[in-house]
Amino acid sequence: MRKKNKKFILKPKKSIQNVNLSRPRLIDSFERDKKKYWLDKNENFDPILNSYLVKIFNKINSKFISSYPDSGFLHQKLSDHLKLKSNNIIFSYGSDGVIKSVFETFLNINDMVFHTNPTFAMYPIYSKIYAVKTIQINYKKNQITKKPYIDFNELLKLIDKYRPKLFCLPNPDSPTGTVLSNLQIRKILNHCLHTNTLVLIDEAYYPYYPNTNIDLVKKFENLIVARTFSKAWGLAGLRIGYAAAHSNIIKYLNKSKPMYEVGNYQLHFINLAINKYNQVLKSVERSNKSKLFFNEEMKKLNFTVLDTYANFTHVNFGEKKHKILKNLSNKFLFKDNFDHNSLKGFTRFTIGTEAVMKKLVLNIKKLSKNNE
Ligand SMILES: Cc1ncc(COP(=O)(O)O)c(C=O)c1O
Repeated sequence: MRKKNKKFILKPKKSIQNVNLSRPRLIDSFERDKKKYWLDKNENFDPILNSYLVKIFNKINSKFISSYPDSGFLHQKLSDHLKLKSNNIIFSYGSDGVIKSVFETFLNINDMVFHTNPTFAMYPIYSKIYAVKTIQINYKKNQITKKPYIDFNELLKLIDKYRPKLFCLPNPDSPTGTVLSNLQIRKILNHCLHTNTLVLIDEAYYPYYPNTNIDLVKKFENLIVARTFSKAWGLAGLRIGYAAAHSNIIKYLNKSKPMYEVGNYQLHFINLAINKYNQVLKSVERSNKSKLFFNEEMKKLNFTVLDTYANFTHVNFGEKKHKILKNLSNKFLFKDNFDHNSLKGFTRFTIGTEAVMKKLVLNIKKLSKNNE
């Protein structure tokens, strides 16, 4: 006889039970305070670029919100834009989607993965979800420039020693904002051919940092480049990005995909947004100018600045930090409390328009002067 009212025991897979895998609850996630300037998530709110994007909204045929997506047309369009073949790309929900897809497609439990530290939060999270072993490539701190850097020779030695299945490298990395040169990346790719290592170069901040490695997907069968429309394109809310890689890699990524991963609306939006690419480049120019202005003003106030290759910057307010941030947080959102040694003491600000950065500078100036 079966027992009545048997208690159901919920058991997710082991990796999900991992107590070190903790995520914010989505029900606690609300829109940020509209009265504040959002300089915390490296989004691009440039109103000039936005005015071009807004026009696209109404141009999209309503049948595309009622029908399932067929993405072939955008493969064609984007691959022409990138000077690749249409079977060299695959779409996902942002570069985050690409990263997850790479973990899901290529990694078995206990495979070895290298990722930098600190880095984009999802690398350590997917490492836990997919129960892989990780080696973290820690950023060191240059004692003179105070800049984080990777010990390149040590990295190559570690690759030789552990022969990882996958090496994840955002370039520029976040939150450090640092890059490896194209020459260094070529060296890594060659090295990784010998160790049979897939290399995921995450170019989320392209073209803030224009030195892409996307062309190398034609040459290196172990390279995946992740790109997104979330950053420079100002489309973080749309959730669309893509992987560029050799067709063999794309073929396998495709095998592990849901039937329709990216919405029809997104695909058609990007189709029209690509025609405005020159506006994206102009927006990047404005951001760089704005960053230069902000960094110079911070230096004039004798604060240490970590210039980056992306749309954010780090400032160390030293002894004045607590007072400045406490007041600043009434008007601005930013990212603070980096616990990694390479960024300790720094506060990260996304670069907004020059007008926003002027307001930020004004506030910082006021707060750094009061009762010195
Ligand atoms: C380095 C890096 N990679 C990937 C992402 C994910 O971006 P998205 O999923 O919006 O494309 C981010 C977002 O901040 C990032 O900084």
